[in-house]
Amino acid sequence: MPIPADDASLAEVAAALAAPGKGLLASDESVGTIGKRLEKAGLVNDEETRRAYRELFYTAPIGKAGISGAIMFKETLQQAAADGTSFVDCLTRQGVMPGIKVDEGLLPFEGHDLATGETSTRGLDTLAAAAAGYRQGGARFAKWRAALRVDASRGFPSERAVELNAQQLAQYAAVCQAAGLVPIVEPEVLIDGTHSAAEFGAASERVIGATVAQLWRQGVALEGCLLKPQMVIKGADAAGGRAAPEEVAAATLTVMRRVVPAAIPGIMFLSGGQSEEEATLNLNAINVMAQQQGKAPWSLSFSYGRALQASVLKIWSADSSRAAEAKQMAVALAAANAAAVRGAYDAAGKHPSVTSDSSLREAFRGWHGPTASAPAAAAAAVAQ
Ligand code: 13P
Repeated sequence: MPIPADDASLAEVAAALAAPGKGLLASDESVGTIGKRLEKAGLVNDEETRRAYRELFYTAPIGKAGISGAIMFKETLQQAAADGTSFVDCLTRQGVMPGIKVDEGLLPFEGHDLATGETSTRGLDTLAAAAAGYRQGGARFAKWRAALRVDASRGFPSERAVELNAQQLAQYAAVCQAAGLVPIVEPEVLIDGTHSAAEFGAASERVIGATVAQLWRQGVALEGCLLKPQMVIKGADAAGGRAAPEEVAAATLTVMRRVVPAAIPGIMFLSGGQSEEEATLNLNAINVMAQQQGKAPWSLSFSYGRALQASVLKIWSADSSRAAEAKQMAVALAAANAAAVRGAYDAAGKHPSVTSDSSLREAFRGWHGPTASAPAAAAAAVAQ
């Protein structure tokens, strides 16, 4: 079936975002999430600090380094560089498409045992109006994150979590396409836990398979959307330490081949708590293996948050007069991952990052409550 005329431009945008050697900068952390990272680095979480931090990335030549699109938070979409140039213009002028996070964070299931930590995602009620506004404001694509927790001993993710999140992801994708925005569909299977690579793979297969089936059922044009999953890795607390990049590559490609249709132009992995170097090495191994085996119909790329930002924040938070050095780091991290998309990263070389291996782990980022002392209502609003 030929895709309708309106969807043709969606397909063009999706193809450009996932063009060979290109990937996405996920710089769309909510005020709460970026605030935690700024504060951990010794900075204040105020609007000006957030703006100045984003400026480092958007005014660095990240487009030339391989960034095709940058996902922003709603506050950031409205902001401008110190010289008055809007961030949307800073990005567009260097060939980087502006994108927007459109979900409103995670929420425990209503009436569900809160302690399970299973969530759905908020934001569908107001999405149609919001999406039209974001498109007018210059966004070309839009991300929605679902978070699925793995605990094989309890049957997690539960069927209910898988199906509800798949339905929400497909509804969001359909609404965004109707508003002229390419959906970046993110069913994140969380790294938190002791699950083996096999358990992670089985959960990923269920979650991504259900999501793709819902996209198809709800009439989403697959050519005009991108998928943003986690790689198939071990749980962060699994026995035996991290898996080798070749193991991650083999497990990831197996799952993706089983459940992701060739019509989807790009699989843009998140970094999800991997170290900056690990995220690059794993992505490189995935592409090297895909090229050797010749059975990958999609671009295998990145939409990294922490793995493109952590070292930049480390430099800038140490001394804000080191902005030029921080920008160079933003470019170097983008270039390393763009090389990995081509399977051309020098795995024996020195990675540009300056953070420690474990520092990007944020325990249960998908779920921050409740605790014995926190009332359930307060715990119910979960930041992303
Ligand atoms: P990380 O790469 O830090 O996981 O962030 C990607 C993202 O956008 C999660 O929603």
